[in-house]
Amino acid sequence: MCGIVGAYLSGEPCLAALVEGLRTLEYRGYDSVGVGVVLDGRLVVRRKAGRIEELERELSDGALAAATIGIGHSRWATHGAVTDANAHPHLDWKGRVALVHNGILENYLELRAELERRGIPLRSQTDTECLAHWIGIELEGTDGDLAEAVRRALRRVHGYYAIAALAGGARPQLVVSREGPPLCVGHSAAGAWLASDPLALVPHTREVVFLEDGDVAELAPGKLVVTRRDGTPLARRPVHVDWKAEAADRGGFEHFMLKEIHEQPDVVARALFGRVEADDVRFEGELFGDAALRGVERVVISACGTALHAGLVARYLIEGLARVPVDVDFASEFRYRQPVLSPGTLALGISQSGETADTLAALRLARSLGCRQAALCNAVGSTMVRESEAAILLQAGPEIGVASTKAFLAMLVASVLFAVRLGRARGTLALAEARTLLGELGRMRMNLERLLAREVVEGIRALAERHKDQRGFLFLGRGINYPIALEGALKLKEISYLHAEGYPAGEMKHGPIAMIDRQMTTFVIAARDSVASKVRSNIEQIRARGGPVVCVGDDEESLAVADERIVVPGLSPWLSPIANVVPLQLFAYHVALARGCDIDKPRNLAKSVTVE
Ligand code: AGP
Repeated sequence: MCGIVGAYLSGEPCLAALVEGLRTLEYRGYDSVGVGVVLDGRLVVRRKAGRIEELERELSDGALAAATIGIGHSRWATHGAVTDANAHPHLDWKGRVALVHNGILENYLELRAELERRGIPLRSQTDTECLAHWIGIELEGTDGDLAEAVRRALRRVHGYYAIAALAGGARPQLVVSREGPPLCVGHSAAGAWLASDPLALVPHTREVVFLEDGDVAELAPGKLVVTRRDGTPLARRPVHVDWKAEAADRGGFEHFMLKEIHEQPDVVARALFGRVEADDVRFEGELFGDAALRGVERVVISACGTALHAGLVARYLIEGLARVPVDVDFASEFRYRQPVLSPGTLALGISQSGETADTLAALRLARSLGCRQAALCNAVGSTMVRESEAAILLQAGPEIGVASTKAFLAMLVASVLFAVRLGRARGTLALAEARTLLGELGRMRMNLERLLAREVVEGIRALAERHKDQRGFLFLGRGINYPIALEGALKLKEISYLHAEGYPAGEMKHGPIAMIDRQMTTFVIAARDSVASKVRSNIEQIRARGGPVVCVGDDEESLAVADERIVVPGLSPWLSPIANVVPLQLFAYHVALARGCDIDKPRNLAKSVTVE
């Protein structure tokens, strides 16, 4: 949902840092890119509709090479079409302020009307340009103090933003602020940097300050001055970020998505590290201790997209192993439907980024209604982690592919661990069963490695080649594997743009069966569990109507009756989703590859949805 970067270096040129930062953040939006720098005291902007390569062509004349201070933006359009004029940075009408923005200014029509009344010419259809002009207006009354001008202008704005404003002159100034979308900064004697994601700061500094809503900060080499919007000074401590800079490159794989799929055996190992004891699980925080967990009467899970699918799996685990009732809701629905929550309810947010606007709002609502709240989250230092009472960090490492894979897998592993902890605390899960499950989880890494072996992947690639031109796809699963059917369909839709639908297998006869014909491939997920024979009947019913069936799982009889099959190592049904999803991720990847789709940057999507 747009990425912003900035660099203010003491003596060194900043352009390489800006372009490198934009490349790291490109997953957040890739409609347009731009940079603004100070050159001989003047602001100069270069921006283009299109990918980062377009910008690099624009910059190849070397005219901006000497600049040491600048900002940059990678856009995911909200207001105004994808054009050069709507790309960021935007300048105020006198060219004194350059602004990049991630978010939405909700009262921009009002701001726009006022600017028009004042005779200020508007050159784009964006909300951001309006704010650039307002900062320019305020600059006139603050004696050129950009931080104060930003504070004053932001008091007129309603909405969500992470911004970076740059002013030229003899003493250039770089000022940032946030309300909603994430923003972090870092500094040393060599320079000061800002970005939407710490991943873009890691090559420069590992001591990262995560700004809070309402913060306004002025940055320069060795300097960070943070205030509230009313000017009250604030102290913000840096957090040490451990992520490796190499995590943001493809490491020899053709796409980030493929690299991240192949990282999954390690992801499981990392998610378990330091948490698993012989027959219990240990998490940091009082909320995960026996006393607090015994007080939990109900769990309410809020999430979006793939994270919601993990939440649906978590429901089966928590109800099955810990016997606590669970509701799972789209965060975007939960936040507006006046949910009935009691103090004994634990609100659990699940998110890769920890910045998804709807999920954050759902957790805030639960908190305001007196619930305790916890997060399952991948991004260290994210808003969700900072706002929640307790967090289980997924430790999957940075996920760059827009289609989530390894973070989903880590969410599944964390859900198993949480359900075991809850079950042990409440005495609903027997010691022996906990020991067996945790032991099997410990062997999961090896099982995933088998699933990712060259010959298995090659088989899935060939399967994708055979099915890539089908009219549509149906994914069926039952019980704990029903959410995996939803996830298989979502992955295929996201990156191949083919129509795919996930459905509970038992519901097939109530409608979707009408779609079955030779042009509609059905994936059936078949675990060796209590509903295996029913799922097997679904396969027979589809085949009887001429529909091709691919069976994924470990139920041998189901695998035998399908037209094609992907055999998954035999596992406890509780753990089967962790393995069953992997072939579906690979299938989606290879279909998209065979159809020539842009896998890491699927059309219309952004990795992190920080607006409603
Ligand atoms: C995943 O493939 C999607 N791109 C999307 O559904 C994503 O899972 C959703 O936007 C939630 O994101 P989060 O996990 O960062 O909250």
